Order: sequence, then C-alpha cells, then structure tokens
Amino acid sequence: MSLSRRRFLVCAAAAAAAVPITRLLAQPKFARNPFSLGVASGYPSPDGAVLWTRLAPDPLAGGGMPGAAVEVAWEIAADGGFRQIALRGKERAAPQWAHSVHAEVAGLAPGRWYFYRFHAGGTTSPVGRFRTAPAPGAAAKRLAFAFASCQQYEQGYYAAYRHMAAEDLDLVVHLGDYIYESSWGRNHVRKHEAGEPVTLAEYRNRYACYKSDPDLQAAHSAFPWLVTWDDHEVQNDYANDRSQFAHPRDKFLARRAAAYQAYYEHMPLPRRMAPRGPDMQIYTRWDYGALARFHVLDDRQYRDHQVCPRPERGGGSNVVSPADCPGIAQPGRTLLGAAQEAWLNEGLGASAARWNVVAQQTVMAQVDRFPGEGQSFWTDGWDGYPAARELLLQHIAGTKVANPVVIGGDVHTAVVADLKADFNDPRSPVVATEFVGTSIASQGISQKSLETWRAENPHIRYANSSRRGYTAVELTAKRCVARLRTVNEKSNESPVDTLAAWTVEDGKPGAQRGS
Ligand SMILES: [Fe+2]
Repeated sequence: MSLSRRRFLVCAAAAAAAVPITRLLAQPKFARNPFSLGVASGYPSPDGAVLWTRLAPDPLAGGGMPGAAVEVAWEIAADGGFRQIALRGKERAAPQWAHSVHAEVAGLAPGRWYFYRFHAGGTTSPVGRFRTAPAPGAAAKRLAFAFASCQQYEQGYYAAYRHMAAEDLDLVVHLGDYIYESSWGRNHVRKHEAGEPVTLAEYRNRYACYKSDPDLQAAHSAFPWLVTWDDHEVQNDYANDRSQFAHPRDKFLARRAAAYQAYYEHMPLPRRMAPRGPDMQIYTRWDYGALARFHVLDDRQYRDHQVCPRPERGGGSNVVSPADCPGIAQPGRTLLGAAQEAWLNEGLGASAARWNVVAQQTVMAQVDRFPGEGQSFWTDGWDGYPAARELLLQHIAGTKVANPVVIGGDVHTAVVADLKADFNDPRSPVVATEFVGTSIASQGISQKSLETWRAENPHIRYANSSRRGYTAVELTAKRCVARLRTVNEKSNESPVDTLAAWTVEDGKPGAQRGS
C-alpha cells in the first residue's frame, strides 16, 4: 500500500468517525425563516414518497445554519388542515448535507393525495402535497404529468411554474438544466449575483438562488417530482470526466463531486441516490400501476467523450459532418454507458405497462442541422452517438415494447418527432414517438434554424422555439395527449396558452396533431 493511499484511508476513517459525534440541536433558535427554500416531494411509491426540505435561514450565503445537526419533524395528513394525521416522524438535518432532509416515508394508502409539512426550532414549513402511486399492477385510469427543463434564471421569470402548479397533475418530471452554472444570453430580467460555481459552497448558493423563486417552490409543493440532470448542473457540455475545456481530470471530477452533492441536497431524491465522491446514480424506473412505466435516464455521467470537438477547446460539442468526422459513427460509442444501457434494455423488455415513457435529457431524433447536400450533426446530443441510438431503437422495435414515448429537453425548442431505427430510410417504420419540451426560461433556437430542421428531417413533425413553458401530458389506456403550454417568460404576470397539442393513439407510434 502506498503512503498516499494509507493516508487517504486514515482521513476517510476520521471523516466517517466524525459523523455520529456531530452535535444534535433538538430545539435550535432561528433568527429568520429556516424554510426559505420551500418543500418538495418526489418518487412517490404505492405507499409513500420522499419528502424534502433544507434548513437555510440565510440561503444565498451558505445557509446560515450552525455547524451542528438539527432535528426536523415531519407530519403527513389526509387533509390540508392536518386534522387527520396519517404519519409522523423525525429526521436529522446534518451540516455535511447542508441541513437538507430526505425523509423516505412508507405505510400510506395507494393512489391517494396527502399533505405534508416540517417543523424545526418552533417554526413550521409551508405545506406540500403528493399523490402516492397506484398499487403495483393496478388499472389506473389516468396519469397527468408535466415535464420541464432549462430554467436559466437570468433569462426569464418562472411564470410557467406558477401555471403548472395550478394544473390538475399527478407528477412533474424535470429533464435537466435546473440551474445554469454560467451567465449568458440576451435580455436578462434578473441576475445570478455570483460568478460561476466550482466549489460545493458555490453550487449550494446557486441552488438557493434558483430555489428562492416562489413559482418554482409552488410547483414543487403542488406535486411530487422525478428528476434527472443535464450538463448545466455541473458545466456546459461536460461528458463523463471531461469538461468542455478539457480541464485536468482530477480537478474536473472534484468539481463534478461538488455539483452532484449540491444537486442531491436540493432535490427530493431517495437516500440511495446520495453521491459517493464524483459518482451518483440517478437513473431509475418509476411505475404508475399498469398504466405507465417511466425509465429515467442519465446521459451525462457515463457517456463517451464527444467526437471531433473544436480544436481550441479539446472537449464539448461541435457541429460536424460524418464525412469530416468518421469517428462519430464508430460502433460501441455510448451515451448511457454499458451498465445503464443493459439496465434500460432489460427494463423496457420486462415492462408490462401500457405506456413506456423514456425520460431523458436531449433530442433523440436525428437532426441534420444545415441545408443542402450532405449531413451535419451536433455532437453533444444523441446525434453524436448514432450507433447507440440505433441499437436502442432496434431493441424497442424488436421487443415490441408497448407504446414507447421519449420525452426530452435541452434544445429550448418544442419538437414532435417520429423515431425510426434508420432515419435516412423513409421506408423505415416509426418505432416510437418523441416529445421535446420547450424551456422554462432559457432562450430558444432561431426560428430560421428550425425551418432547416423541418426541411432536412422529414421525421420531425413539429419544431417551435417561439415560446417558453412546459408540456402537460395526459395518459389513459387509449391515448397520450401532449399539450404545449407556453408563456412570455419576460413577464412574471404572463398568462398561459396552449400553443399546440399532439396525440398518440394506443398501439400506434407517431403523434398526430390535435387533442
Ligand atoms: Fe438548457
């Protein structure tokens, strides 16, 4: 054993030993509201959910908590007035995890709405609510969910979340870019008021900045969420252990560890997803009775590096033609990593659900980006990993997975597409339907570029980046209806409208316009 390895073990043992002796404050005194970041729930099961909060009386400056653990009580009731208490419990909010709480509750009835709140130091949190999932295999009539992504705080208000909170939903799915590490874009309506985060303390403050928004808090308290991340939760365009600027690997992994920990601390994630250093498994399955199975993916942490990056960077995305960058088509290149690919194939193959929703970050359909002869692909999305995409879509076709619907984000543009095993062959059958949501706040691609998307890619049925918002989806045994709900993000008072609606009929991949 090398000296440095032995020293590491000693440090690790000391750190592990330190945890149990952290002081516990049963009745702390808070000078200000410790529930400044709201409450959230996630991952509802047939008998419970994860309940989240974080104690942060001074949220934008490290939280403002003492260096001791604090006891947090939670209660769940069948009514919003907390007269019919269903469950009560206590958690330790530890300084090592930014005094966040991830209470995993169990013992509730399936398919029921419940209300929850927290108490600490004589203060009571806002009330949240969640609905437990139906019993396993139960014939659920309807699942209504919204999916969202890309909420650059400076570029817009979260009017979309205020309207989402008022909808009749069972679930929200977030597909990444929950925070942005960098300041960019036009016509800012507000500011991060801090530079790009690198350390854990800096990422915590960035989450606190975003989560201080009351409309985002309203959407969290109204419904349980499932979440996955994209790149901006760490750094634009990062791939696995490589930063977009090809920074030294160990430095970048330290940054990734900080970013992942802050993500865990601010999301209603189960404790099994807690990070271990720079590693954190968030891909997972979620079942809604016999009606739907969600396959929630992570396409950032395990991917091969992007091919043919811009030479001045050494990493990150580029737009290339396969003729100039033959490596793009190399078999074996992976976006999900071998373990997640095997897990996904197995979960799709074994699913007995009526609808199989693949919840992931980016556009899955092939998108030739430039007009005219030849093809040009953006290397950061599935287009940079065409062999992996082809295998996945062939698997979906071959195993006859029931009603596969892929949902995505990332491009700040609403897209409806037919997914095919071979996008270059017009006779290749449609094997799955894709809905990509517009962004909550991040600025969109130019409408002129989208005209090229449509002209060059006949399998793209719709592309619109003119408005910000979210997608509201209603699943029944017969149909999946996706409504594009949009706002003007520059106004906090913006009304919401339905820009378009698309429907998938049971057993018939590919969406049709209308609802
Ligand atoms: Fe984004």
